[in-house]
Amino acid sequence: MEFVAEGRIARRARTDCAVVGVHERGELEPHAKALDRALGGRLTRIVRGGDFAGRGGETLLVPDLGPGPAARVLLVGLGPRKSWNRRAYRRAALAAAQALLKCGARDARVFLAAEPVPEVDPYYRARFVVEAVSQARYRIPDLKSGRKPARPRLAVVRVVAADRAVLAATRRGLAHGAAIAAGSALTRDLANLPANVCTPSYLATVARRLAREHRTLRTRVLAEPELRRLGMGSFLSVTRGTHEPPRLIVVEYRGGTRGAAPVALVGKGVTFDSGGISLKDPPGMDEMKFDMTGAASVLGTLKALAVLGAPINAVAVVPACENMPSGHATKPGDVVTSMSGQTVEILNTDAEGRLILCDALTYTRRFRPAVVIDVATLTGACVVALGPHMSGLMSNDETLAAGLLAAGRRAADPCWQMPLAEEYQEQLKSNFADFANVAGREGGAITAACFLWKFVAGLKWAHLDIAGTAYLSGANKGSTGRPVPLLVDYLLSRT
Ligand code: BES
Ligand code: MN
Ligand code: ZN
Repeated sequence: MEFVAEGRIARRARTDCAVVGVHERGELEPHAKALDRALGGRLTRIVRGGDFAGRGGETLLVPDLGPGPAARVLLVGLGPRKSWNRRAYRRAALAAAQALLKCGARDARVFLAAEPVPEVDPYYRARFVVEAVSQARYRIPDLKSGRKPARPRLAVVRVVAADRAVLAATRRGLAHGAAIAAGSALTRDLANLPANVCTPSYLATVARRLAREHRTLRTRVLAEPELRRLGMGSFLSVTRGTHEPPRLIVVEYRGGTRGAAPVALVGKGVTFDSGGISLKDPPGMDEMKFDMTGAASVLGTLKALAVLGAPINAVAVVPACENMPSGHATKPGDVVTSMSGQTVEILNTDAEGRLILCDALTYTRRFRPAVVIDVATLTGACVVALGPHMSGLMSNDETLAAGLLAAGRRAADPCWQMPLAEEYQEQLKSNFADFANVAGREGGAITAACFLWKFVAGLKWAHLDIAGTAYLSGANKGSTGRPVPLLVDYLLSRT
């Protein structure tokens, strides 16, 4: 798919499909009005005739328009003008993209980004068009044996800029959107693959392939003997019950000045979380194949940086393993020694994410990172607290937290800050080790973050709990690709 920014449209340029917005009660946007005049009032008649009301997310394809500026017009409902905002714009863009891909057009000229949207500048308006088309075009890795669905015909999307002055910003938005889409698609593919395909070794293979595809990426994969030498007793305790070998995957992106401190991204890579000896309930256990989305999202983010050639240094550290019960598995009450030297009493083997992340966080110190951000489907408690719309954010550094909150808001991939405080840490007390890996039900997302906090002394660190945002359940079950847009936006904001 090709995305092209257009500052001024050549007078005779015809498109297969013009995409224009209509506010509720049939108010045509200025570009829709211009098109309406060229079409002899056809759009006005459609609206007056009651065939299109402009409700948010509504679309109507007007085909077979004969000669003129467009072979088809796609009307896109923008909803009420008074609630015209980022969310409404994204919704309209996604609805437009879905309808566009269903119709027969090979190319489209999208006018949605050419009209003002409160608090969304031309850069984001263009970027969201690309993200929407890419999201609508995304297909889950095909493991079905039936006939393959027809590929959409759409090959070129022209995004019209409001004027020449914002052409450069529009172009930048398209390029960034394409990079984010490539990163999100990688994340979604990895997360959607079943756990019998997407194993720790598979993640390592994909990370190595990424480095072959981009000169700016370098991948190193550590296997169990090396992890033992490093003293990662906490990480290794999680992988004891499975036959699937663990991996520590390290991908470095070098786009910034040599020697500049990198941003470290640590992603939870539990390729299947059965709970271990503290076995989970059967309902929904299949969804624990998504428990490596943190890992997938940091790999996707590095891919996006590499596609863009962003001027920044970053490193992804991914502890990858399976959490399974067996005769060798770690038992409740076992005490292990982490790479930091701190000992942990494992009271619940289902609180495994923090056990692998703590050693990965300690490992990250060797890169002397400017900031460290870990990303994890860490707690069901976070889903209870925030639902599916916002990721949880905890941080020991207010500047970093503010940067991530703002990036999430801009990128429409929001997170919400929750507290980190010593009183929560007291809940982790143990009679048998330095502390326990669980602290009871209350404030579960926070106490999980408090556990990680014990491993990041002296680092500027933030934790994103994506348990609620990483994937959808039910009829639309599948990975969302979050929080790639947030992470890329944050990293770009540092350049
Ligand atoms: N991977 C889960 C968290 C999770 C739950 C992600 C639901 C997505 C949806 C994590 O490893 C886990 O099992 N956490 C436990 C922690 C508890 C034992 C303290 C949980 O949330 O129940
Ligand atoms: Mn678990
Ligand atoms: Zn887990």
